[in-house]
Amino acid sequence: MTQTTKAVLTGIKPTGSPHIGNLLGAIRPALRLADDPTLQALYFVADYHALTSVNDAKELRHLTYEVSASWLALGLDPARVLFYRQSDIPEIFELSWILACATSKGWMNKAHAYKARVAENERDQNPDLDAGVSMGLYSYPVLMAADILLFDTDLVPVGQDQRQHVEIARDIALRMNHVYGEGLLKLPAALVDANTATVPGLDGRKMSKSYDNTLPLFLPRDKLKKAVNRIVTDSSPPGTPKDPATSVVFQIFEQVASKPEVEQLRQRYQAGIGWGDAKAQLFEVLDQLLARPREQYNALMADTNHIERLLAEGAERARKIAGPVMDRVRQAIGTSRKHG
Ligand code: TRP
Repeated sequence: MTQTTKAVLTGIKPTGSPHIGNLLGAIRPALRLADDPTLQALYFVADYHALTSVNDAKELRHLTYEVSASWLALGLDPARVLFYRQSDIPEIFELSWILACATSKGWMNKAHAYKARVAENERDQNPDLDAGVSMGLYSYPVLMAADILLFDTDLVPVGQDQRQHVEIARDIALRMNHVYGEGLLKLPAALVDANTATVPGLDGRKMSKSYDNTLPLFLPRDKLKKAVNRIVTDSSPPGTPKDPATSVVFQIFEQVASKPEVEQLRQRYQAGIGWGDAKAQLFEVLDQLLARPREQYNALMADTNHIERLLAEGAERARKIAGPVMDRVRQAIGTSRKHG
């Protein structure tokens, strides 16, 4: 990384095929950042993080391909972005242990994912408050800190829910620098985009896999149409003016259509467009947006060897950056320098 280029890094947990909410809230903003010539993007599939919930080899491999194919189909350029799989970078785990030794247990007690599980156990009146908590879940933020600190990362684009984890990474880096020498690890900062609107799902709540109300990105055309038709509306008949502000169809449309298209639909709402028509308009815009990515996604999923090759190349390039950082750390802490 040159002095003027900043490293922007984020991990993508392989948890299934992404939906419109992911595209607008995370994927698109990340791909825009990757286009910024002053930044070097490092985007990786966080398969070891998924291990806290996915315990089936076939499934984990499939999820890894799905998420990789999705990002590639949506425009991630692997020549420009360092795109790799976490488990292909052994240095991450080496660093993870070293960082664990610089991490107070008390910090981990306060981490969100762990606290949420304890709260669940409390609610269920489970006498074991740590029930269901593996050491993997407990030390999840340490692994994430290793992901980040190994690449001298400047910026970490994440959703609000991950901000705390980036702050923990920063605290760990501060501790390491305090103990082993200033400047050893670069201090990262979270980049939380306040402007990304949350996209409503089919039922009007936030679009989320856990609510089962999503519009998946790579449905076949006819299934996408059916999904769009399931979006909730009120019961006002065609001919009555409709309020765009309270319409889920409109709110999604607004985020995927061009300005003139949005204005046109706004006028048609005032003129009393029927819900069937409004949904047909939304479907057309979505289908236009997704037709090409869908084709590319399907082609990639039909040739997972190609995905493997891309990930392997990405890992090779990423390890060239990780190697010198790891050397620096080994030197500072006094372990063997004969590695890799
Ligand atoms: N924990 C993140 C999530 O659940 C994924 C992730 C893993 C990550 N390692 C990271 C994000 C490093 C940013 C930087 O979404």
